[in-house]
Amino acid sequence: MSIIFDNEKRTLTLHTKDTTYQMQVDAYGFLLHLYYGNRAQGCMDYLLTYHDRGFSGNPYDVGRDRTYSMDALPQEFPCYGNGDYRSSALVVQNENGTYSCDLRYKTHEIKKGKYSLPGLPAVYASEEEAQTLEVVLEDNVIGMEAVLYYGVLEKENIITRSVRLRNVGSQKMYLEKVQSACLDFLSGKFDVINFYGRHAMERNFQRTPVAHSNMVIGSRRGTSSHQYSPLLILAEHKATEKQGSCYAMNFVYSGGFKGEVEMDQFHQTRAMIGIQDETFRYPLEAGDVFFAPEVILTCTNKGLNHLSQNLHTCIRKHICRGRYRDEVRPVLVNSWEASYFQFDGESLCRLAAHASEAGIEMLVMDDGWFGKRDDDNSGLGDWYVNEKKLGMSLAELSRRIHALGLKFGIWVEPEMVNEDSDLYQKHPDWAFTIPGRKPVRARNQLVLDFSRKDVVDYIYDQICKVLDQGEIEYLKWDMNRSISDVYSAVTKDQGKVLYDYVLGLYDFLERLHNRYPDMLIEGCSGGGGRFDAGMMYYTPQIWCSDNTDAIERVRIQYGTSFGFPISTVGSHVSAVPNHQTGRSTPIGTRGTVAMAGTFGYELDLGKLTFEEKEEIRRQVQSYHRFAALIMNGNYFRLTNPFEEEVGAWAFVSEEQDQVLLNVVMLEVHGNMTTNYVRLQGLKPETMYREEGSGRVYSGAALMEVGIPILMEFGEYQSRQIYFTKAD
Ligand code: GLA
Repeated sequence: MSIIFDNEKRTLTLHTKDTTYQMQVDAYGFLLHLYYGNRAQGCMDYLLTYHDRGFSGNPYDVGRDRTYSMDALPQEFPCYGNGDYRSSALVVQNENGTYSCDLRYKTHEIKKGKYSLPGLPAVYASEEEAQTLEVVLEDNVIGMEAVLYYGVLEKENIITRSVRLRNVGSQKMYLEKVQSACLDFLSGKFDVINFYGRHAMERNFQRTPVAHSNMVIGSRRGTSSHQYSPLLILAEHKATEKQGSCYAMNFVYSGGFKGEVEMDQFHQTRAMIGIQDETFRYPLEAGDVFFAPEVILTCTNKGLNHLSQNLHTCIRKHICRGRYRDEVRPVLVNSWEASYFQFDGESLCRLAAHASEAGIEMLVMDDGWFGKRDDDNSGLGDWYVNEKKLGMSLAELSRRIHALGLKFGIWVEPEMVNEDSDLYQKHPDWAFTIPGRKPVRARNQLVLDFSRKDVVDYIYDQICKVLDQGEIEYLKWDMNRSISDVYSAVTKDQGKVLYDYVLGLYDFLERLHNRYPDMLIEGCSGGGGRFDAGMMYYTPQIWCSDNTDAIERVRIQYGTSFGFPISTVGSHVSAVPNHQTGRSTPIGTRGTVAMAGTFGYELDLGKLTFEEKEEIRRQVQSYHRFAALIMNGNYFRLTNPFEEEVGAWAFVSEEQDQVLLNVVMLEVHGNMTTNYVRLQGLKPETMYREEGSGRVYSGAALMEVGIPILMEFGEYQSRQIYFTKAD
């Protein structure tokens, strides 16, 4: 049993293989958080201390006990209005304009299996793999019922959280803030690790000590964003990749979000994550229900690599779905950096012919095949094939690509419309614009109101009509601007539109997933602007960044790996000089870096030299050889490429008998000192044979002192070093 209720102590304890989470219903019915950490037995309420603390009020029902204050006690779901002045998980405005809420325990239920959330992505698991706890809290003055959901995946060391809010009263209320999960820590000194960035430079690593403040990250863009990843990690100061306590909160949602880490007046830490509240005001009429998106929690005392691996396994096996959850993805060539908008059917067939010679398995026709679209100023919304530009029908193109032995995929951007399009001429009111105001344009496009079912239905039908024209095995779903000018003509309550937009997006993707179960959908938002676990429920891989420079990608993929598995990271070999940075790197290095992801190419294969073509053929073979290890093995970050001269990472098989070490020389200097890369996750007592040299190494030595990376490598050079267990 992973979930235990102790009737006497009134504790609810969630055990995973290595961790324990405990809460307690106290004498007044408040649900207090007691513990989250390494697996532990017994009741942890001895951790709570009570003092008379000035300016920290006391609930009325504690009488004259001035030592009892919600301002100091650790809580599961802190709401505004019961005397806790820290940041709240729930803020409710009532019909009379007051802000008040006071949730008390009513009942709970322990169930087999993992709960799901209507219309929202969520971790899934079989009845044997998971259990669910539902704790019902209620405020019967305002008529609010909150059901806190906890999913426990024992083997994976994962606990998920979500909340269902229901208006059980008779008056309308507004949800002004709903954080999906809160972690209160009574003690401990933490660093917060988060991932910031910008377009073409996503998920940079940042580690800052938690201080007296409320540190906030998030997105007001309607998407999870390039600017901050919806992931918070708390690590004790001493925690490293290999050891120490750390906690992760990974938000399973693709819209705006808010992550907060606050150190309070008593040096206690509160971490929360949930939907962005600044433009959120969700109405609940009597009987209405609201579901908060899910948060994946995990913790370990074995360091950050282990923490990431817990998230990787959870996303790989319990978020990603469909055929391509487990199947190795086809190696693709994408037309974008090969020819941008300048292509026709014949040029694509030529690209496919080169691809086929190299062993590449799929051609993706990127932006520019529909409507009137020869640049990015027109055409979005007109999802019909531009046969004049292609010089052939989609069916004919698809047939010719398949005849070359390749699969075929196309690019779409369903959420968008250009003013210069037939769709906009017909339905200008379908685009977000505020009455009386000119909208903010971005990439010269506007955002369709996906909170409206009629809009989603129409675009869905148009896209299906295209998909049904040819054998299309892959769809790249793009989204190339941040949302603004949010106004929906079909509702009075504009504060719900952004949330409903995300539900509309998920509804569309769910329908596609069901109608085309064998189609691989790759997510994208100007690269990695919507790279989140919510999208991964529908799109098991996401284009990680519009930056294809191998050296920059080492850093972007390093940051990405903290929260997300390699199997979700879209990564391609592109031309040099690189189109984003102008840097030239060897083709071998571009291959090594792209192999830390779902591998592919994005360049004009016809322009390559004979040697480069040979190298690509070799790379594709090599990827096939290692793909299972890369997708299913444990991934280890071995250096920090923001600080070190060498970027290094390894894939280690579950059985610890195969290791693929990848090394990229990021910097070289005169009279260079030797870098030693230390491996991880090997068996110390096992001997490992390096394939290239045949040399045999001790697992312990490879982990303790490492392997020298010789300066002869040269700047931007790389190696893939494969070890197997020596018998
Ligand atoms: C975005 C994507 C690119 C490409 C273009 C097409 O920027 O990230 O990969 O598809 O759109 O317009």
